[in-house]
Amino acid sequence: MIVREIIDKLYKTENATDEELLFILDNLSKEDEEYLFSKANDIRLKNYDNKVYMRGLIEFTNFCKKDCMYCGIRRSNKEADRYRLTFDQIMECVELGDKLGYKTYVLQGGEDDYFTDERMIEIIKEIKKKFPSNAITLSLGERSYESYKKMYEAGADRYLLRHETATKDLYDGLHPGEIMENRRRCLNDLKEIGYQVGAGFMIGLPNQTNKDLVNDLRFVKEFKPHMCGIGPFIPQNQTPLKDEEGGSLEKTVIILSLVRLLLPDVLLPATTALGSIDPLGREKGIKAGANVVMPNLSPTDVRDKYALYDGKICTGDEAAECRGCIERRMNSIGFEIEENRGDNVKWLTTEDGKQYENLNEHKKNIKTNLVFKK
Ligand code: 5AD
Ligand code: FES
Repeated sequence: MIVREIIDKLYKTENATDEELLFILDNLSKEDEEYLFSKANDIRLKNYDNKVYMRGLIEFTNFCKKDCMYCGIRRSNKEADRYRLTFDQIMECVELGDKLGYKTYVLQGGEDDYFTDERMIEIIKEIKKKFPSNAITLSLGERSYESYKKMYEAGADRYLLRHETATKDLYDGLHPGEIMENRRRCLNDLKEIGYQVGAGFMIGLPNQTNKDLVNDLRFVKEFKPHMCGIGPFIPQNQTPLKDEEGGSLEKTVIILSLVRLLLPDVLLPATTALGSIDPLGREKGIKAGANVVMPNLSPTDVRDKYALYDGKICTGDEAAECRGCIERRMNSIGFEIEENRGDNVKWLTTEDGKQYENLNEHKKNIKTNLVFKK
């Protein structure tokens, strides 16, 4: 097998066998790496142009009933300084976000029973009342079908639930008392209900091999999420994995490129975790095929408490600073921030109901505006 031939096959057919994907991961040279990035970049340009979508991240609670081995807000971490934003605080973040040009908010938190369906619905409805055309993304972990459905009906548009790892042994070791099947059930439920769904996984988990990463690639290829959150595992000093090594920038961007080739229209963030392990991590992610950034909109005084991992960037910065910073960073590498909802291109239709394969096709063909059809 030859690495470049497999990359070409991926580029042309949007697929490769597990053996071929493994061969790439095991044998990629520096030159092949550049080739891979350029192919992935090419596909992204075709589908999304040089536009980068922005989501304002609101980390509204760090209480969590789960005990994920890698995560700094796991319930066993007695040193975590717990907080919950009030309804009014959440609305302040949203309003500030709107002023700063964010058309999507990601409400992310630990699995916190305080935020019942009723409380979430109240928040979702209020946001939609004030900003009907802005999108709401939820990231609240595993809940029941009914709960997901109620929140969707209240106005939530998208849901992020990383599958974390598609290898059962790894999953079981990292998530005491949890069942991988249940997370899969949640992802399927979310899709069935009608959310735009984000799956995703971490790179560099302890004992994770290239074979495991192929499992993740295969999982996302088959599940076809609208979004895919991928970042390096970073050890957190108050967790059992504090002395482990953590994922590398290089491996993470390689995986980002492969995901772009397997799922050409996926919304792919250059994550904060990637920006935290390398000062230019997010830029490198974008250049390798990512097309989304998620700057922090949480109030400054809680940011360092949402410490999933060590060394998280932006904890001391105001929301407005992050907004400006991210735009400068994207411009510096020839990309532009697009101030819209940033829906997956497959979900966009023209006002007269036509749907096109990608953003450039849309642009060429439409006289009417692009609208989002829920
Ligand atoms: N390093 C990197 N990412 C982490 N996450 C949680 N803990 C860590 C860590 N130590 C990721 C998980 C989760 C997302 C919100 O953050 O993948 O789904
Ligand atoms: Fe927050 Fe750069 S994105 S300071």
